[in-house]
Amino acid sequence: MAAFETDFRKAVVYQVYVKSFCDSDGDGLGDLPGITSKLDYLKHLGIDYLWLTPFYPSPQRDNGYDVSDYCAVDPAYGTMADFEELVAQARDRGIGIMLDMVLCHTSAKHEWFRRALMGEKRFQDYYILRDGRGSSGPGDPGEPPTNWQCAFGGSAWEWVPRLGKWYLHLHDRSQPDLNWENPEVRDALVDVVRFWKDKGVSGFRFDVVNLISKPAVFEDDTTGQGRRLFADGPHVHEFLKELVDRAGIDGMMTVGEMAATNLKNCVRYTNPAEHELGQVFTFHHLKVDYKDGQKWALQDPDIAKLREVFRLWQEGMQAGGGCNALFWCNHDQPRAITRFGGREGVGQTGGSWEKVGKMLALCTHLMQGVPYIFQGEEIGTTNAGFTSIDQFRDVETLNNYNILLGQGKTPAEALHIVNERSRDNGRTPMQWTGEKNAGFSTGTPWIGLPGNYDRVNVEAEMDKPGSLWSFYRELIRLRKEHAVISQGSVRFVDAGSAAPKVIAYERAYEGVRLLVLCSFDGAPCRATCEDTVFRWERGQVLIGNYDTPQVNAAGESVDLRPYEAVALIERA
Ligand code: NOJ
Repeated sequence: MAAFETDFRKAVVYQVYVKSFCDSDGDGLGDLPGITSKLDYLKHLGIDYLWLTPFYPSPQRDNGYDVSDYCAVDPAYGTMADFEELVAQARDRGIGIMLDMVLCHTSAKHEWFRRALMGEKRFQDYYILRDGRGSSGPGDPGEPPTNWQCAFGGSAWEWVPRLGKWYLHLHDRSQPDLNWENPEVRDALVDVVRFWKDKGVSGFRFDVVNLISKPAVFEDDTTGQGRRLFADGPHVHEFLKELVDRAGIDGMMTVGEMAATNLKNCVRYTNPAEHELGQVFTFHHLKVDYKDGQKWALQDPDIAKLREVFRLWQEGMQAGGGCNALFWCNHDQPRAITRFGGREGVGQTGGSWEKVGKMLALCTHLMQGVPYIFQGEEIGTTNAGFTSIDQFRDVETLNNYNILLGQGKTPAEALHIVNERSRDNGRTPMQWTGEKNAGFSTGTPWIGLPGNYDRVNVEAEMDKPGSLWSFYRELIRLRKEHAVISQGSVRFVDAGSAAPKVIAYERAYEGVRLLVLCSFDGAPCRATCEDTVFRWERGQVLIGNYDTPQVNAAGESVDLRPYEAVALIERA
């Protein structure tokens, strides 16, 4: 059995979207044996932990984030024996398995909710049921109890005629929120986490976990706070501490997904002295291309804003002793390589596609925190480029497509917007080869693939000198080798007015310094970095996406080419 990386600062996590990773039985869905068959691939890439998205029984209204049985495997994905085999095989390779815990809500098909609907008071207290506003009495729904909107569009309340009550669902109406105020609910959820811990998993990712504690009084959102109104609620830290303590997972590899959160709370979630979580996923850096903060309104990424968000979260978490999860992509995000450039020369070494992919990777992998790679990111998977709304599967996308039409957009305009923003961009099958269905499945995949998989695939990238894949492998290796990456302090640097789209930061550890420059500019620019303390005369290239960086004499500036990224390290 190989040893696990227990120093999380040196670890890299790889996220597998189970439904789309590898289909072992030709039914068009990825499955657990498929993942096991790819462990050697993952080991070769160098990752330490594997986060698996939910594979529990589910009606799949929200692709498994609507769980109907927390302690079982959906037959579509395999059996419990398959899961145990995966854990054992991963452990043999020194890879830890992390599971996705969806504990903020259940599926409406979960036994608890079904029994609540059947009238069992005990289970009604597992959920959040309220009378309608202005209701004249039983049978009259009145209005929803508040004007809160759910994450996927529309009211966050659903009327249940047979109970004469509304229930709260912060996501789809098939995902009723659990009532964490009820100690019996918390007990039951501790049992769920323990169940999987006892199966030998090494860590957990907690879905939208900062939404578990609802406000004491339910009031309308009159100030446009949106999700802030119910994020990081009054008992959230208390509930998390209790869960972590009672499930016995303190110090394990854990990460919480935080919706609309803030720095102060995230410091608390992740400072080890608080005994809550290891890292947090936050999303402010992935909203810099939302026009007026609206996901379904397009604008080019605002790089000044991106830099400010990274600075705030890197320096702020450092000051508070917290820890960031570092990521660009996951199953809820369009592909970053498409989002930040790289539409040209897809699949061609040397084109902007490859440069952008490497620049993005370098930018986050050399920061303070724990890097997460989402399946396919290491080969430069692009957005799907679907041509018809029928090709989309995601509930959020389909709801918002209709909302856009309702707002007067033409079908072509609405399709263009969902093509840029849909979560399905991150859910297309893993591209293993240039063969049929990219080698993902011998059957018909549950969702289509980007048309470029003949050029963008593992076979074309793996172990190729200069490839994006090789660059990822090198970044993973460097984090293990250099304490300045895994443990160094971080400070953001002003790249200067001639480099408005450059993100620059320094790392330092025991006399070793690193200067990182990442250009999000498709045109050349000059970075001056006047406030850096980096000693240019000692600088050598640690890693970069062009052959030789153009450092001007005496190190007064660096001329960066389109999407250039370079890390310079001081050598004595
Ligand atoms: C976040 C998950 O990543 C997303 O896929 C899901 O729809 C929501 N949480 C609700 O569980």
